[in-house]
Amino acid sequence: MNLKSTITVAVTGAAGQIGYALLFRLLNGEMTGKNIKIRLQLIELNDENLLKSLSGVMMEIEDCAFPLLESMKAFSDPIEGFRDADVAFLIGAKPRGPGMERKELLQANAKIFKTQGFALNKSAKNSVKVLVVGNPANTNAYITMKSAPDIPKKNFSAMMRLDHNRAISQISNKFNIEINEIKKLCVWGNHSPTMFVDISNSHFLNGRKINEISNENDWFKNILLSKVGKRGAEIIKMRGQSSAASAASAAIDHMKDWINGNIDWVTMGVPSSGEYGIPEDIIFGFPVICKDGGYRIVENIKINNYAKLKIKLSLDELIREKESVISLLSGA
Ligand code: NAD
Ligand code: LMR
Repeated sequence: MNLKSTITVAVTGAAGQIGYALLFRLLNGEMTGKNIKIRLQLIELNDENLLKSLSGVMMEIEDCAFPLLESMKAFSDPIEGFRDADVAFLIGAKPRGPGMERKELLQANAKIFKTQGFALNKSAKNSVKVLVVGNPANTNAYITMKSAPDIPKKNFSAMMRLDHNRAISQISNKFNIEINEIKKLCVWGNHSPTMFVDISNSHFLNGRKINEISNENDWFKNILLSKVGKRGAEIIKMRGQSSAASAASAAIDHMKDWINGNIDWVTMGVPSSGEYGIPEDIIFGFPVICKDGGYRIVENIKINNYAKLKIKLSLDELIREKESVISLLSGA
C-alpha cells in the first residue's frame, strides 16, 4: 500500500466482541503506525438493538479522543460500508458454541460472505486488502473471493495468524525461549483441528533447529498439534464465548505485516496458485513473507512424509467444505 495520510478501514460485526477488541487498537495506530489517519466504516446488521449497541461503541471511541481518527460512520448496507475501503475486516458472522466444530457454522454464515463479496466488488477499492475472520474462515474467504470477480484474488485472505501465534507461544513457554527468537514456523491448511503446525524448518535465533531438541518429538506431534488445533474449543469451554482479544490481536498482526512487510515467515490463509499441490483457489494456510504491500508464498520448502499426510487431511476437509457451497456460488 502506498504511503498516504488517510486510509479507509471497513469492519463488519463492529458491535461484536472481536470488533470491540479490535477498534481501539486500530485507532491507537497498531496496524498502520502513528502517521496515518483512519476513516472508519463500521458495518452491522440492520437491527435496532445491534445498531444501538454500535452507537455505544462509537461513543466510547469518541471519548478516547484518538488523534488518528479522521471520521467514523455506521452502516447496515455493506455496499455503502465498503465504499472505497483500502482494508476490510470481515468479522461479522455467527460464532460457534461449546461442542460445535467451526465447519458447522457454514450453513449459517456462508450467505453473509456471498453478499459481502458482491458488495466489496461493487464499492471497495480494487486494491482493497480483505481479511476474513468469521468462521469457517478459509471457506468463507473462498466464497467472498469468488463473489468479487473484479478484485484480484491475492487481495483475499483468511485468518490463520491466531493459530500461528498460539503455536509460537506454546513453544516459547515450553522451551523458555523469547517469542521473537522463534523463526520459520508455519501452520498449513484449514483453521480447524486438521491444521498442521509445521516446525520442521523452525529454528531458534541461535540456529538450533527446534525439531532436533532431543526427546521432544512426541511433544511436537502429540501435544503441540492438538493443543493448537483445539485451542479455540478450549477457550470456549473456559470463557463460555469464543476467543476475542486474541483474535483481534492476530487480525492486527496479519494486516500490519501485509501492509508494512516482515522478514520472518508468517501464516496467512491465501488462495493457492497450485503451490505444494494445493488446487488453485483453495484458501490454504501457507508460510508467507510480506513485502511492498503484498505477500509471497515461501517456495521450495522440503515437506516430510508425516507433514504431507497431515496437509492432505486438511486439504481434503477444505475440498469438502468447498463442495458444500458450490450451489450457493452458482446461485442455486
Ligand atoms: P459476536 O457474535 O460477538 O459478534 C459478531 C457480530 O457480527 C454481531 O454483532 C453480529 O450482529 C454481526 N454480524 C452478523 N452478521 C453480520 C453481517 N452480515 N454483517 C455485519 N455484521 C454482522 O462474534 P465474535 O466473537 O466477534 O466472532 C465473530 C466471528 O469470528 C465468528 O464467526 C467466530 O467464530 C470468528 N472467529 C474467528 C477466528 C479466527 O481465528 N479465524 C477467531 C475468533 C473468532
Ligand atoms: C478460535 O480459534 O479461537 C476461533 O476460531 C473461535 C472458535 O470457534 O474456535
